[in-house]
Amino acid sequence: MRVEYRRELAAPGAFASSVDAFRAEGARGCNVTLPFKLDAFDYCDTRSARALRAGAVNTLVFDGERCHGDNTDGVGLVRDLQALGMPMQGRRVLVLGAGGAARGILAPLLERAPERLHVANRTPERAAALAKAFADLGEVGAGGLDSVPGGFDLVLNATAASLGDALPLIADGTLSAGGAAYDLVYADEPTPFMRWARGNGAARVSDGLGMLVEQAAESFYLWTGRRPKTRPVVEALRARARA
Ligand code: ATR
Repeated sequence: MRVEYRRELAAPGAFASSVDAFRAEGARGCNVTLPFKLDAFDYCDTRSARALRAGAVNTLVFDGERCHGDNTDGVGLVRDLQALGMPMQGRRVLVLGAGGAARGILAPLLERAPERLHVANRTPERAAALAKAFADLGEVGAGGLDSVPGGFDLVLNATAASLGDALPLIADGTLSAGGAAYDLVYADEPTPFMRWARGNGAARVSDGLGMLVEQAAESFYLWTGRRPKTRPVVEALRARARA
């Protein structure tokens, strides 16, 4: 099978026309990244259950005249956490942030049956609204960054803070000793959150490079029916970043 995959930069406000042009070339589908995941949601004719839950689409699958939208971000995160040996089942899991990135991961996290799932956000009202939106899938605690209960086994940074090289202001003791910390952002250098986690007794710390690869692999599967091996890709990208 020959596959061509390339980058396309859509101009702001020109998402639909860019995708239309790509389809006209005979494309099978595409990934969509920020800031177009909501445009992609609106663009599709049908949407998967996980795209509806996430309220955003990162994968378009073209089928003749019709376009199906899916969201592979959440499954990408969960697969990477599994590969990294960061268990969720029966653990106390904290999600920092209540924007689109957080919304995309709550359902697959709840499916893994954590002992407790808590969303903490700089603006507590957004955390409460998010927790309410997922209450039918399981109990989700919510609050501000300054009132996190403490003692979590796994802390996931789904805020946009790392993009601005900032740290969400969370108390020491939020992460239990020997716990795991994961930043959904990927970066060549450890993010402030990753450095904070290392200084707070984390046994395992990772950025989101593996999530990027895993969500891409799931999209590849949607287009081709084949599942690529992901870990060699993660290793190759890490080696390239080190070189
Ligand atoms: P995304 O789709 O990437 O999640 P978003 O919807 O704009 O983007 O949400 C950004 C998230 O990062 C929010 O949870 C935001 O907190 P607020 O809801 O209080 O704005 C959070 N965020 C951004 N910068 C932050 C910072 N410096 N410290 C803590 N949280 C931050």
